[in-house]
Amino acid sequence: MTRHIVTLEGDGIGPEVMTEALGVIAWFNQNMGSRIEAAPGDIGGMSIDKHGVPLSDATLEACRKADAVLLAAVGGPKWDKIDYKIRPEAGLLKLRKELDLFANLRPAKVYDALVDASTLKSSVVKGLDIMIVRELTGGVYFGEPRGIETLPDGQRRGINTQVYTTNEIIRVARVAFELARKRKNRVCSSEKANVMESGKLWREEVTALHQKDYKDVELSHMYADNCAMQLLRNPAQFDVIVTDNLFGDILSDEAAMLTGSLGMLPSASLGALINGKRAALYEPIHGSAPDIAGKGIANPLATIQSVAMMFRYSFDMAREAETLETAIESVLKRGLRTADIMSEGCKKLSTKEMGVALIAELNATLKTAKTA
Ligand code: IPM
Ligand code: MG
Repeated sequence: MTRHIVTLEGDGIGPEVMTEALGVIAWFNQNMGSRIEAAPGDIGGMSIDKHGVPLSDATLEACRKADAVLLAAVGGPKWDKIDYKIRPEAGLLKLRKELDLFANLRPAKVYDALVDASTLKSSVVKGLDIMIVRELTGGVYFGEPRGIETLPDGQRRGINTQVYTTNEIIRVARVAFELARKRKNRVCSSEKANVMESGKLWREEVTALHQKDYKDVELSHMYADNCAMQLLRNPAQFDVIVTDNLFGDILSDEAAMLTGSLGMLPSASLGALINGKRAALYEPIHGSAPDIAGKGIANPLATIQSVAMMFRYSFDMAREAETLETAIESVLKRGLRTADIMSEGCKKLSTKEMGVALIAELNATLKTAKTA
């Protein structure tokens, strides 16, 4: 079966890391019998420059029709002064919203080879494997009313609205419980029920769903501020964390840094299963990193791991996902590093060289498989 994906390289380091990800996809097509056809599309600042909008109707339509979307990064200082409605980030938010990608899976896994790259003690992060499930299409990111208004006395007032409905909470909590069952069977739900009604509702709905369908999963609740603290104090206590859009944005960056580098972490954003098809967007969680864009030194591994997630969650290609993840681990074990994860005694590689090293590793796996 041929799978059609749309690739959105976007801005900053986006094009550089996407090139390496495409190389990996081509390798799987050539060597493992997959048939993935990639068609490029525009998003973010480069789309503003070309089409005047961060996500054109044509690109959105192509993404809607595709079996999955692979995105690299959006944004940069060049477009920082533009109105929120048409900023590069608005293109990404529109894509999430239009495809109804409500469940954002952000794994934070510490590779043994990278345990010293973390700013935390290795005893705290060794073996760490957390999955943050972030609600992605609701909450304060999309709540109305929003805006900046001028008051009669000339002051200005900025407004955003945090809002959640029962269904929005239940559908994302369900994803978290289901994932936990395939992992360590623990879910920690995080909100601010002590000060926010939306948080109180969140806690009540998650509890009710747990009672109804997921009693076998261990559920705990934690205020988001405490969760931020506990992630640093004792991250190993967590398995799956489920939380809203804004807290998820913050906690997932924090969890990412436990692993040593934002440059290592992929994500999947999934919609509901409708007529056998699930809309899906895969992207690294790092941004466009304008400071190093164009220098050829960015780490392509987060985007490449997003490809592995795509294999697993969209294409039922668990074996291929594992092959790819194992190859990444081997490359790291051999002391090959991009600048962001560089440590003493290792060899520093450019973006391109990391892509080449990974393909070499994949080729080696193939040879071992043939002789075995
Ligand atoms: C993320 C990013 C986005 C977000 C930005 C780029 C809009 O920080 O995916 O975490 O805030 O959701
Ligand atoms: Mg973020």
